[in-house]
Amino acid sequence: MKENTRDIKFTLNGKEVEITVNPKMLLLDLLREELKLTGTRTGCEVSACGACTVNLDGKAVRACSILAAQVNGHEVVTIEGVADGEKLHPIQEAMVNHGAIECGFCTSGMVMSARALLLENPRATREDIKRALQGNMCADSGYVKYVEAVEMAAKVMQGK
Ligand code: FES
Repeated sequence: MKENTRDIKFTLNGKEVEITVNPKMLLLDLLREELKLTGTRTGCEVSACGACTVNLDGKAVRACSILAAQVNGHEVVTIEGVADGEKLHPIQEAMVNHGAIECGFCTSGMVMSARALLLENPRATREDIKRALQGNMCADSGYVKYVEAVEMAAKVMQGK
């Protein structure tokens, strides 16, 4: 290990990753610049817009507010790891079918926030969903369709 570098090992979208990073590198930069996973968006870069949301050990976190080194030993899922091969995740499918996606910039962050919510609480209410998505800024949709799509996905995931 060179000075000013850190070797990390973590699970990314189901695969083990071993990589050497600068201790000051953000997770967002590791994902986008080093690993070319550009589905995680760069928005405000100050933890305010939610565009960079990923799941860290199943929780929604902002990749612009976490150091890459902090994911050492943990599990990260990005939007690229949500679908099952060609089959969209029920949240993605509901967003597409319900017409929730407009420009799409915020969508990956919305999916990751919703995924974390439904992992923690599969029976999330409309209020829970609104709370989970409120940190994901969207200039286009007014949120209603996103909230409805996550409600639909929750039902599908419960087999209703
Ligand atoms: S880019 Fe991370 S919250 Fe906006």
